[in-house]
Amino acid sequence: MAKHPESLMMTQGYRPEWSEGALKCPIFQTSTFVFKNAKEGQDFFELAYGLRPQKPKESLGLIYSRLNNPDLEILESRLCLWDRADSAAVFSSGMAAITTTILEFTTPGDVILYSEPLYGGTAHFFNTILPRFGVKAVPFAAAKGPESARKELDKISAKGRLAMVFIETPANPTNDLVDITACAKFAASYSTKKRRAVLAVDNTFLGPLWQRPLSLGADLVLYSATKFLGGHSDLIA
Ligand SMILES: Cc1ncc(COP(=O)(O)O)c(C=O)c1O
Repeated sequence: MAKHPESLMMTQGYRPEWSEGALKCPIFQTSTFVFKNAKEGQDFFELAYGLRPQKPKESLGLIYSRLNNPDLEILESRLCLWDRADSAAVFSSGMAAITTTILEFTTPGDVILYSEPLYGGTAHFFNTILPRFGVKAVPFAAAKGPESARKELDKISAKGRLAMVFIETPANPTNDLVDITACAKFAASYSTKKRRAVLAVDNTFLGPLWQRPLSLGADLVLYSATKFLGGHSDLIA
């Protein structure tokens, strides 16, 4: 019988036999990991940097904690359970996750559509930093939905240039709601064969227990784990 995420969360991704049999995962407080020999190090780096395809059954060895670390890998695999996601990446803050995601998916000349209101840090990044990189951020009022921006997007010929629809629902600080499925359809209407406009959802406020954006058509889900995912105001992630 398939186990529920609530049960899998207790053990997912953790191998006690790799940690002296410790029932609970230790904190691996190290920047760097030791290779058996130089060849092993070379193999790990080549895979990490995408210099060659992954061999069958090969997994990425531990290198350096900015690239991978057992605690982060375990957390990532457990976050995937809740969101029914294929993979996850953990960052040192919610803003690090958001800015890295946007920079990965955009190039100069692109357009991003976003729901308003947004968390202040995200709004600042969209309106002050992104224009410096030649990316135009276009807002739509959460209450009016993405269709309210179609005229403006069409005026700037956004088809094929719309890299992302970014929404925050419920929004910080007003709890405004945005229809995730409608945004997925809207993003699809600006996609071309060459270029898919992706839908990213900041799901910080409800968290994956109460809202699973991927099941509603979103491509990416982001969190400030600093908030309800962390739960105790004792970390930034
Ligand atoms: C909805 C939302 N997204 C992102 C962030 C940014 O996250 P962090 O403070 O972890 O960088 C916040 C922080 O308040 C937030 O409320």
